[in-house]
Amino acid sequence: MASAQPRFSLGSDNHSGVHPQVWAAMSQLSQSHAPSYGSDPLTEKVTTDLKKHLGANASIHFVFNGTAANVLCLQTLLKSYEAVICAETAHLHLDECGAPEKNIGCKVLTVPTSDGKIAPEQIEKFLIRGGDQHYAQPRLVTLTQPTEYGTVYSLDELRRWRQFTREHNLLLHIDGARLIYAAHALNCSLHDLTGGLEIDALSLGGTKNGLLFGEAVVIYNSTASASTKFYRKQMMQLPSKMRFLSSQFNELINKELWREITTHGYDLAKYLGAQLEGFSEISITQKIQANSVFARLPRQWVKPLRENVFFYVWDEATFEVRLMISYDVTREDIDFFIGEIERIRELHKTVVKQ
Ligand SMILES: Cc1ncc(COP(=O)(O)O)c(C=O)c1O
Repeated sequence: MASAQPRFSLGSDNHSGVHPQVWAAMSQLSQSHAPSYGSDPLTEKVTTDLKKHLGANASIHFVFNGTAANVLCLQTLLKSYEAVICAETAHLHLDECGAPEKNIGCKVLTVPTSDGKIAPEQIEKFLIRGGDQHYAQPRLVTLTQPTEYGTVYSLDELRRWRQFTREHNLLLHIDGARLIYAAHALNCSLHDLTGGLEIDALSLGGTKNGLLFGEAVVIYNSTASASTKFYRKQMMQLPSKMRFLSSQFNELINKELWREITTHGYDLAKYLGAQLEGFSEISITQKIQANSVFARLPRQWVKPLRENVFFYVWDEATFEVRLMISYDVTREDIDFFIGEIERIRELHKTVVKQ
């Protein structure tokens, strides 16, 4: 964050606090003792209830963070000589410090993208050397839904991926750090995007969606899922006070807090996008389908703007920025940000005239 204490942050949904409903549930839990490592009654109940949203054959394992969730999914499904295919913008490829490569030994093969999404035809070139002992064997496709650009694969696109991966003996994983926003955008259930699609594995996000911490690894392949709990422990991701993780997912998913959070995040992102479109100097670079807005700003506006509202420059070459809405950002915050843009534009005009 910038040193001058910005008023609030559009930098990431990781920057927010904890949703009060989640905090209250955790606080309530803190009044009593319970068995550890997931053998407490609450975790058992929450896991059973989560299957109603994710699929009856879902095997659910809570972990501390999103990188671990991705790595544990891959660890469960891949051998070290196999390769994972993803978009060149995938968090798993760009922002996990080589964790999949280090932990599994697998190769990551990337595909170019301009909006974060990839299509089956793009990976055909990797499949030609199947069976060749000199080549890391493509085995799993991972899609980020919504993508790192806040765009959303349609249900048809996902079905095409499922069909293609089946035809080519590939597994399908979804990095759903913000999956709840895709369900909102597509007006479908979480089940439609997971168990209903018959994917092989899912990283289901919590931290970015108002939780204190925690993600869920969901494995659908029953043979493979028998190993997940052992790998989780080896990866040092088995939380002893598990009930504090499961209670958060209970609020977010089972009690459907996700609907309130996504409606708010999406509506405010659209509102912000509409306001930005009023400035001829700004261009929106991606469709707004989740809780983020990507826009190109005049370079000289970025530094003064960030003094009061923090955000990230996504592309240093073009000054494309990412503006992301957390559950607690308000319409007044957005109006303040727009006011700041107006102020800085005027200031800049004056400076240029002098
Ligand atoms: C799409 C996506 N996947 C995975 C992660 C990893 O989460 P963590 O930082 O908790 O490891 C992030 C974090 O920003 C993300 O945006």
